[in-house]
Amino acid sequence: MQKDKYILITGGAGFIGSHTYVELLNSGYTPVIADDLRNSNRLVLKNLEKITGKTILIAEIDVTDFDKLEKVFEKYNFHGIIHFAAYKAVGESVKEPLKYYENNIGSLVQTLKLAIKFEVESFVFSSSCTVYGAPDDKNEVTEEEVQLLANSPYGQTKIIGELILRDFQKANPNFKMVALRYFNPIGAHPSGLIGEFPIGTPNNLLPYITQTAIGKLNELTVFGDDYNTEDGTCIRDYIHVCDLAKAHVKALEFGEKCENGCLEFINVGTGKGNSVLEIIKQFELLTKLKLNYKIGPRREGDVPAIYANTDKVSGLLNWRTEYTLSDAIEHAWNWEKNLQHEN
Ligand code: UFG
Repeated sequence: MQKDKYILITGGAGFIGSHTYVELLNSGYTPVIADDLRNSNRLVLKNLEKITGKTILIAEIDVTDFDKLEKVFEKYNFHGIIHFAAYKAVGESVKEPLKYYENNIGSLVQTLKLAIKFEVESFVFSSSCTVYGAPDDKNEVTEEEVQLLANSPYGQTKIIGELILRDFQKANPNFKMVALRYFNPIGAHPSGLIGEFPIGTPNNLLPYITQTAIGKLNELTVFGDDYNTEDGTCIRDYIHVCDLAKAHVKALEFGEKCENGCLEFINVGTGKGNSVLEIIKQFELLTKLKLNYKIGPRREGDVPAIYANTDKVSGLLNWRTEYTLSDAIEHAWNWEKNLQHEN
């Protein structure tokens, strides 16, 4: 019988983590979640079991707690680690920077310490396009264009996280490390059983749209229509969360092939930008609903336009998107409708 290939996914009950859990199982791995559910919902665990037909392996622990995390490493002979566990609300990070540094840096450091101790050399880090700050006129960013200062403490924790990986890999050259720089993940699993669970009022565009359409929120405010873009609203690279999840599996597989160790920073986006108004129009078209929205002032810290150069992710990881923007919007809407029956 083949031995289980256990993969630790810290923060595996979250939005991207839960979708990655499914893709890992689909690819023959055995994922083990470490997550204290502080920013997720127990429904995700129940529905992960429905989707996969397998009992979930989870340690409900704070990933910054070295002793508790060590017990998880003792229990499973991990083949690789995908490290998601982190706070991610940009606005909150400006108000409570220490909370972000303590959790996001702390969880990374503890996980890496245990990776050395237990010789788990394959490591995927959850980074963000926030490391690019505001790009120049061309708006398409390649992996070399990292800034030294991000726009928020949240962004800073991703830049520092990447710097930690650089130093760590220099000291431990056998490690195979990939930092995936996510653009804007949206959508939900096509089954409608898992998706994004914003706690409180959402910050991100898609959950704000779906919650407005379903009547949980009154009105969406479009943050500014006076940017130097075609329709005046900001442009982002929206990527289906299941495509993003698959990129993690590809990153692990890539790591397995670099026998002598490696460290790569890789964009994961579609390579296409869409404006806020385009997303709203597409949502209205697909759902045949009229969205209640108004144009408001700009949101502080927003960059006018950014999208991924995808040469590296397609070349090195042999990864391509499978879902369209319409698929992502439809899946997000199905998920929102299904959630209604849960409450
Ligand atoms: N937007 C609105 N109204 C809203 C919410 C968002 O108009 O109610 C607009 C924003 O101004 C922006 C676009 O929708 O133009 C996307 O905003 P999101 O908040 O969904 O996403 P961001 O691009 O601001 O943030 C994302 C990730 C962050 C990451 C950042 C890096 O959510 O984790 O990209 O640029 F740090």
